[in-house]
Amino acid sequence: MKKDALLPQRKDDHLTINLERDVQSGISTGFERLYLKHKALTELDLEKVDTSLTLFNKQLAAPILISSMTGGTAAGAAFNRTLATVAQYCGIAMGVGSQRAAVDNPELAESFNIRKFAPNALLFANLGAVQLNYGYGIDECNKAVDMLEADALYLHLNPLQEALQPEGNHNFFGLLPKIEQVCRSLPVPVLVKEVGWGIGLETARQLLQVGVAGIDVAGAGGTSWAKVEMYRQPDLLKASINAAFGNWGIPTARNLLELRDLDGNPLIFASGGLRDGIDLAKSLALGAKLGGFARKFLHAANLGELDLISQIEAIKTELQTAMFACGVSSLSEWNISHLEGIERL
Ligand SMILES: Cc1cc2nc3c(=O)[nH]c(=O)nc-3n(C[C@H](O)[C@H](O)[C@H](O)COP(=O)(O)O)c2cc1C
Repeated sequence: MKKDALLPQRKDDHLTINLERDVQSGISTGFERLYLKHKALTELDLEKVDTSLTLFNKQLAAPILISSMTGGTAAGAAFNRTLATVAQYCGIAMGVGSQRAAVDNPELAESFNIRKFAPNALLFANLGAVQLNYGYGIDECNKAVDMLEADALYLHLNPLQEALQPEGNHNFFGLLPKIEQVCRSLPVPVLVKEVGWGIGLETARQLLQVGVAGIDVAGAGGTSWAKVEMYRQPDLLKASINAAFGNWGIPTARNLLELRDLDGNPLIFASGGLRDGIDLAKSLALGAKLGGFARKFLHAANLGELDLISQIEAIKTELQTAMFACGVSSLSEWNISHLEGIERL
């Protein structure tokens, strides 16, 4: 197995670039083309509109996820502590960033040791699926799960990021049977996510067929990893190649709509460019069970726990208010019939 000594530095670069540069995708999520159907005679008491749900045996106050971001460095550890403390306080779910650095170097594992801050939260471990082609197997996946006593493991699929990253791993050949093996062998559910370019219908179908428990679309319209990696690219010509991919990917709203064609009502999460509780409400109406926010929560966490709590409470209130104004009192009744404009996606 090849160790990557510069990996922690890369993780800190990602944090700094996401906090300081404009890395917004050139295309939109599509949520702005959708409208929720307002109902003047709502016949509800706002305080009784319930945004709670149970997922993987964990009780959540709202269907909100802090998307996978960081760990493996001192800065990452501080962010993870803030994110986990707030996930516990607000009763929401949280993922960590890729744990590869800590799997390779156990001294870094402490930055992912967040269960102590979030004893009841739904927590997702994280590894790059491509590592299954670079020496990783069941043992490494188990290590990642154990490191944070995770409820589930995310494998991220990021071929374009690896292609555009100076030190990327390029061999994505033959991953599906390896993902299947991980799904069969791990004691927790395995979900697959992208990192901001989406997961199309055919890929989702293949992944679900081999035992993946859920798909997080992580679609386009938010953070563009082509742009993030562009700022790390020392070679000007290569940086211009990154810039050419600034508009790439499946817009998140269209991606969610596309996955409605999957059989069996699989578990789908929405993420990629979600801005507020209205985008979250639209995602849930399109069939998602949770909505994830990465960059928005990174910026809030950078200001401190109170700012992050305010952002999350605002998103929850926006969702609750949207449900109220559509005449819906629980998430089990919230569906695509409350949405207008899907033909515009
Ligand atoms: C600083 C930062 C680091 C990230 N690192 C990871 C990672 O290690 N693993 C992963 O699966 N996704 C990672 N992501 C991607 C996010 O989980 C998410 O899919 C993507 O940023 C799109 O969401 P957004 O538009 O809300 O930012 C990272 C995102 C950010 C902002």
